[in-house]
Amino acid sequence: MAFDVEAVRAEFPILSRQVNGKPLVYLDSAASAQKPRAVIDAMVHAMEHSYANVHRGLHTLANETTDAYEAARKSAARFINAGEDEVVFTKGGTEAINLVASGLGARLKPGDEILLTEMEHHANIVPWHFLRERQGAVLKFAPVLDDGRLDVDGFRALLGPKTRVVALTHMSNVLGTINPVAELARLAHQTGALVLVDGCQAVVHQPIDVKALDVDFYAFSGHKLYGPTGIGILYGKSERLVALPPYQGGGEMIGQVALDAITYADPPHRFEAGTPPIIEAIGLGAALDWLMAQDREAIAAHEHALYERVRDGLAGANWLHVLGEAPEKGAILSFTVDGAHAHDVAQILDRYGVAVRAGAHCAEPLMKRFGVTSSARASFALYNTQQEADSFVDALQRTRTFFA
Ligand SMILES: Cc1ncc(COP(=O)(O)O)c(C=O)c1O
Repeated sequence: MAFDVEAVRAEFPILSRQVNGKPLVYLDSAASAQKPRAVIDAMVHAMEHSYANVHRGLHTLANETTDAYEAARKSAARFINAGEDEVVFTKGGTEAINLVASGLGARLKPGDEILLTEMEHHANIVPWHFLRERQGAVLKFAPVLDDGRLDVDGFRALLGPKTRVVALTHMSNVLGTINPVAELARLAHQTGALVLVDGCQAVVHQPIDVKALDVDFYAFSGHKLYGPTGIGILYGKSERLVALPPYQGGGEMIGQVALDAITYADPPHRFEAGTPPIIEAIGLGAALDWLMAQDREAIAAHEHALYERVRDGLAGANWLHVLGEAPEKGAILSFTVDGAHAHDVAQILDRYGVAVRAGAHCAEPLMKRFGVTSSARASFALYNTQQEADSFVDALQRTRTFFA
C-alpha cells in the first residue's frame, strides 16, 4: 500500500486553513495532532444518532452506545495487541500514569526505589514525586548521554533489589529518542521491578505490540494519535490490573456496595468510575481504526524523510543547536537559536504560518541536563509534506535574521 500524503491531507479539514495570510504549516503534532474526517464524523454521528449513557441502560440507544464504546476498546486492544480486559479508558496519558502510580504506591514502603530517566515528561515524574513526598519512596533517574541516547549502562547500574518500579518513556517528546524498551523491561524484570512505559509519543509513529515488549503497563493519550482530547489508554497485563487497587470510586466500578462493605468490578471496569468519556472513546476508536488502515511503515518512512530533509536544509546553520541526535529517533527536531529566546523564535515562525512549540516541553529535568531553559520544537506527522519541510527551513532562516 503506497502512502499518498496529498490524499491523507485531504482527510484533515483543518489543514486547508490559512494562518497570518499564509498556508498553515502545522509542526506541533507532538503536542496535539489534527483530526481526520473519520474521527470528526464518528463523534458527530454518535451525538446525532445514537447517544445515551453506557453500561446501565436497557433501551436501544443505551445498548447501541455501549456497543460503540466497547467496540472502541476492541480497536484499542487490537492496536497494541492486548486483550480487551487489559485496556482501560482514562482521560489521557497523564491520568493513565497517575492511576498506576497511585495503585502501586499503596503498597510501597519507605526506601523502596522507583527508577525513571532524565528524559521523562512531567506526566511521568510528578506522580512518582507524590510517592516520594507521601511515602518515602526514593526516586532515581537513569542518565541521558550527550547525543540524547539513554545511558543503558547507567540505567542498569541504578537497578537494584529495592527497585520496585521502572517508569520510562518509549520516545522522548523533546529529543525524539526511541528507547530500547523491550531490552530495558527485560533488565528491570530480572530485578523483580514492574515496568510502566509512557508511550504517548511512540505509539503515534510505530506499531506497538505490548506482548512483544513484555511491559507491565503502557500508557498513551488519544489526542496525539489523531483522536480527540479527554481520552487515553492504560494497558495493563491482566494479572497486574487484577492486583491493582481501584483508582477512583463511584458508579460502574463496583461489584456490590453495602453500608459496611464493598466489592469491586473486575478490570477494566474497576478503573472506569463514573460516566466515562463516551464520545471521546468512540472518536479514539475511529482514529485507531483509521490509522490501522494506513501503511504504518510507509508513514514512518515518510516522517523520517521529512526530518532528514529539514536537517539537510539546515546543514550549514552554525547558529542552530539541535537537542537529541540519537541514531534511533522519531521525527522531532528540538533546537535553540543563538541570541534568540525559543518563544520569540516560535512567534516569528507563526508569522510565516509555521506552528511549532516552544518552552520547557514539560521536561524541566531534561532541559537542565542540556543546560537550557527552553527550546523550540518542530514535530512532524503523517500529513506534513516535503514542501512544508522546505517552508519551515525557509521561515527559520528568515527568523534567524531578526537575531543575527
Ligand atoms: C512523552 C509524553 N508523556 C506524557 C504526555 C502527557 O500527555 P497528556 O497531556 O495527553 O496526558 C505527553 C504530552 O505531551 C508526552 O509527550
